[in-house]
Amino acid sequence: MTERVAVVTGAASGIGAACARALSADGWRVAGLDLNTSATELSRTVDVTDRDAVAAAVDGAQAQWGSVDLLVTAAGYDERIPVAEISKDSWDRMLAVLLGGTVNACAAVLPHMRRQGSGSIVAISSELGLAGSEDNVHYATAKGAVIGFVKALALECAGDGITVNSVAPGPTDTPLLEDGSPWREPDYLATLPLRRLVHPDEIAATVVFLAEEGSFFCGEVLSPNAGAVI
Ligand SMILES: NC(=O)c1ccc[n+]([C@@H]2O[C@H](COP(=O)([O-])OP(=O)(O)OC[C@H]3O[C@@H](n4cnc5c(N)ncnc54)[C@H](O)[C@@H]3O)[C@@H](O)[C@H]2O)c1
Repeated sequence: MTERVAVVTGAASGIGAACARALSADGWRVAGLDLNTSATELSRTVDVTDRDAVAAAVDGAQAQWGSVDLLVTAAGYDERIPVAEISKDSWDRMLAVLLGGTVNACAAVLPHMRRQGSGSIVAISSELGLAGSEDNVHYATAKGAVIGFVKALALECAGDGITVNSVAPGPTDTPLLEDGSPWREPDYLATLPLRRLVHPDEIAATVVFLAEEGSFFCGEVLSPNAGAVI
């Protein structure tokens, strides 16, 4: 089997770390980009809002392994603030990390994928980008924008042999849902058809499916969400 190379942002924790583990277990070489060191073969501490740093890290992976076959964008964070109290800095940072970070990572991998004539991009968005959310509208707005970006980029890249899709998780058991999070409350979990949080390995399995068997998906949103949005 030829070597397959994945770049995963947000690889130090939660969903990104689960994706990195699952891909490694399937034989992928994995470069992890995160603010923190990740347990990946090629760990780079990078802020995804820094376009040049992201490009340098991606180019480094390509130089080391000869290709870039998959990008998974999982870097992100949430903060709960009523809409009237969201400062300009909070809006700007949220959009810069969630949307801008996704754009920066895509811009970094696309020249390599175009040259290869193949590649797959999986952007982690959120169920809240599909269904909305209270007390973090900047987060939900950014995630909805990621979905719009994915659909537009998918159209632009399909002719180059590059697939672009999104995975929109529901509430998932990672450090992003801190203790006391409303999404951990038994009353909330009781409203979910599956009555439980999604496990990060289940999100990773969806990402690996798209990467390894999803060549017939184009601009799609797969949402493993425990039935939160049907
Ligand atoms: N956990 C959930 O319920 C849930 C649901 C839907 C979507 N998501 C999305 O999944 C993605 C992963 O979240 P998670 O739950 O694994 O959270 P997490 O906090 O466990 O992991 C997020 C990772 O992103 C990194 N990161 C944050 N800002 C960064 C930046 N500017 N540059 C580089 N790295 C940065 C963090 O250091 C961390 O390692 C996020 O985009 C999140 O919005 C999570």
